[in-house]
Amino acid sequence: MEDEGFMLNTVVQISQAQQEEISNIFHEFLELEHLYTSASELVKTQLHIYDAEFNLKFKRNPIHSIESRIKSPQSIIGKLQKKGLELSAKSAQKNLMDIAGIRVICYYLDDIYAITELLNMQREYKIVKIKDYIKNPKPSGYRSLHVILMVPVYLATQKKEVPVEIQIRTIAMDFWASLEHQLHYKTKSVVSEALKKELQDCAEIISETDLRMQDIYHQIEELD
Ligand code: GTP
Ligand code: MG
Repeated sequence: MEDEGFMLNTVVQISQAQQEEISNIFHEFLELEHLYTSASELVKTQLHIYDAEFNLKFKRNPIHSIESRIKSPQSIIGKLQKKGLELSAKSAQKNLMDIAGIRVICYYLDDIYAITELLNMQREYKIVKIKDYIKNPKPSGYRSLHVILMVPVYLATQKKEVPVEIQIRTIAMDFWASLEHQLHYKTKSVVSEALKKELQDCAEIISETDLRMQDIYHQIEELD
């Protein structure tokens, strides 16, 4: 009963013009979702093609798995608000480069750069930004290669260039990033300096292990 009362109290009368405005905003966000989902699907298909071709040639897959997400309207608005930018779908398209996000988990370090090079060679795509947090890890210890790729999406009557953020990393880097992310979520980002150092050390050990595994792979390859 209380819930019902709450519902009744929160019914707000809005004008026809306001209704239309809300409907327009809703539609703009649906269009945005369609555009970024399309771009993401195109890139994922391309990555699967590279992976399968690599397997045909070298009898192994460079890609362990691919994850993707489209930023929710709430997160988009939150990020625009944080940056002090206009709150609209148009502003999001202009200012946010990570509405479409793809995470590519590779087996070996070399695979990360091989995949990046393939994306770079694809004439349809344009890499507009690379952040190499493998060569230059974040102070937290985070390692990954971030690429912003402009992807052409052919709609019925027009072509749109859509940015897609691709995070490429090894299974080992992903193991660290997933746990570290979860720990920050759990501790609401309040982590003591000692624990921060401990996390950095773990990232360092993982990075050394990645290099050693890569080296083992090269040695075995030479025997073949
Ligand atoms: P954002 O506003 O967060 O997108 O920052 P940015 O545009 O400067 O991008 P950045 O290159 O810092 O990468 C952001 C994304 O990388 C985050 O959304 C995370 O997925 C990942 N990331 C960056 N730093 C860390 C870190 O220290 N730990 C973990 N687990 N992930 C990180
Ligand atoms: Mg981001």
